[in-house]
Amino acid sequence: MDRIILSGGTPLSGSLPISGAKNSALKLQAASLLTSQPLVLTNMPELADTRFMVQLLEQLGVQVFWPKGSGRLSMHAEAITSSIAPYDLVRKMRATFNVLGPLLAREGHATVSLPGGCAIGARPVDLHLKAFEAMGADIHIEAGYVKAAALRGLKGARVVFPFVSVGATEHALMAATLARGETVLENAAREPEIGDLASCLIAMGAKIDGIGTSTLTIQGVDSLHGANWKVIPDRIEAGTYACCVAAAGGGVTLTDVVPSTLSSLLDVLSRAGVSIETGEDWIKVSRTPSSPLKAVDIDTQPYPGFPTDLQAQVMGLMTMAEGASIFRENIFENRFMHAPELRRLGADITVRGSEAVVRGVKELKGAPVMATDLRASVSLVIAALMADDETSISRVYHLDRGFERLEEKLSGVGVTIRRASGSDE
Ligand code: UD1
Repeated sequence: MDRIILSGGTPLSGSLPISGAKNSALKLQAASLLTSQPLVLTNMPELADTRFMVQLLEQLGVQVFWPKGSGRLSMHAEAITSSIAPYDLVRKMRATFNVLGPLLAREGHATVSLPGGCAIGARPVDLHLKAFEAMGADIHIEAGYVKAAALRGLKGARVVFPFVSVGATEHALMAATLARGETVLENAAREPEIGDLASCLIAMGAKIDGIGTSTLTIQGVDSLHGANWKVIPDRIEAGTYACCVAAAGGGVTLTDVVPSTLSSLLDVLSRAGVSIETGEDWIKVSRTPSSPLKAVDIDTQPYPGFPTDLQAQVMGLMTMAEGASIFRENIFENRFMHAPELRRLGADITVRGSEAVVRGVKELKGAPVMATDLRASVSLVIAALMADDETSISRVYHLDRGFERLEEKLSGVGVTIRRASGSDE
């Protein structure tokens, strides 16, 4: 298994292009199952996760054309040859579970393994299944598989989510496009990726109102058609690189971004003493390396609140801030797995349940550390950029799941970083 080895201490400069959003791309890929015509995605990130999804789609009968390096993915689900999503593929990545709704809506039945994914908590799928039951599906769980059937088609329903779920909102939204009559999703998630999915579905002929609000109203249609769609920029990738620049110091312009989708992070960085300038599709992040970072508290919330997917990165940054920061993780119950690894670099972090206290230290020292989940792994990159000596991060397959060309992008702005084969696990 590969390791990433990097050294800190060099201010960063230049510009860094942001890729298409992984969390949007994965749901758009699942949406290709809703139509017998081609769905073509551009600005498509080439990641381990999006490749898993392609493998699954191919298994279901989708014809996929994705020339390497093109950023253009064509998916044609002319005929669905199987509506079974096997454990081997679904356990690798939770978002593959989101083929259930499109299969159910188009074919009237689906058998999909219960999901795996990052080890960041229990992550059940009860809200997804309740939404489909409300839409008239029969759902059984047998031997680790969800068996869903709606042989006479799904019907519109009012679904009130007891709490906000990104995945359940997207899943119910996709299925509702082909249900008979009107579906109303209340307490829906408002993440920009949901807006992207809804807008793409509209381009495919769906009727959806309320994008960007917590109530989505969908009028079912008989069929959807093909479309060309550009995936929105990845706000989590952009936020991660913003933290890298804040950590190392210097000045870097992130390009191909939507700054408004990063407001909560940009506010935190400004309060921490980092200079932020924004334009229509760029963000310039700068910090004089000699000016200290200030401690800021973090409370993760559904969008537009502070994203749980950036909590680990800011924790990495706060390890060397002046003062103490309190982190409250309100979305996932087991999302501080990076804390022990950050401590190996010299960070002072105390975790109690869903709260962590980070007391800024004067120095971090490079050490061998291990990535534990997708976002945790980049918090180690961020801390390593502030540490003396080299840091070696093992289990980088977690990074490869969500960050396109990470070493190339970071070395492009001046980071000394390389990948080595074999790990010291
Ligand atoms: C998505 C994102 C993930 C992000 C998360 C929250 C993708 C591929 N992943 O994950 O990166 O961290 O949103 O912004 O888009 N829950 C239930 N029952 C359910 C569904 C969810 O209890 O049926 C709980 C979860 O365990 C979690 C909370 O609801 O505690 C929010 O999860 P959710 O918003 O659904 O996250 P995902 O869609 O899995």
